[in-house]
Amino acid sequence: MGVGVRAVRAEGQGLAAAALLVCCGLSVFGFGAAAQSLPNSPGKDTFESVCSLCHDAPAAVMGKLWTKAQWEAKVAEMLQEETDVTSQERSAIVEYLTANFKPGGKIYINRATAKDLEILLDLSARDAEAVARYRAEHGRFKSVSELEDALKSAALPPKDAARISAMKGRLEF
Ligand code: HEC
Repeated sequence: MGVGVRAVRAEGQGLAAAALLVCCGLSVFGFGAAAQSLPNSPGKDTFESVCSLCHDAPAAVMGKLWTKAQWEAKVAEMLQEETDVTSQERSAIVEYLTANFKPGGKIYINRATAKDLEILLDLSARDAEAVARYRAEHGRFKSVSELEDALKSAALPPKDAARISAMKGRLEF
């Protein structure tokens, strides 16, 4: 009996590990489940339809805070093969991204990848990964205090913790 239970549990773990591999191996961003909706403003529909051709469009952009020039370059790079996307559509997408994801803008803490977190919160790669790992283990952050717990688990130096506390007003959960 005891052996049977253990076998089932081991099988369950195997399945969970396989599911994790499928989910995170296939997804470029690996964090699609933490749904946080896109802000509304002109160009949103065009952005969603055009930029969802190859990947989860919100997941790709919601961890970036870029200038107009940076968005222009990224949109041009992404659409270089998509010759049927018009220049009006391209400008609408750039407008949308520039309005909502600009330097100093909102930080979508549950959407950002470890690499994004490194930049957004000015962390070391190691600490950014610790924060992302904490999120993967505990589910999406629901409050600043949860984020602070994650930062504590990354053993962040107090001056970094203070800098992040100062960003509180920009954090979106
Ligand atoms: C033809 C397929 C395709 C389309 C269409 C596409 N992307 Fe991508 N995108 C990719 C691939 C593949 C990657 C991952 C590799 C990389 O980062 O270049 C990616 C990654 C990204 C990243 C992450 C880059 C980084 O530095 O982390 C952003 C941002 C992005 N795409 C934005 C967009 C936007 C905005 C649009 C719509 C204008 C778009 N993509 C349309 C294929 C596409």
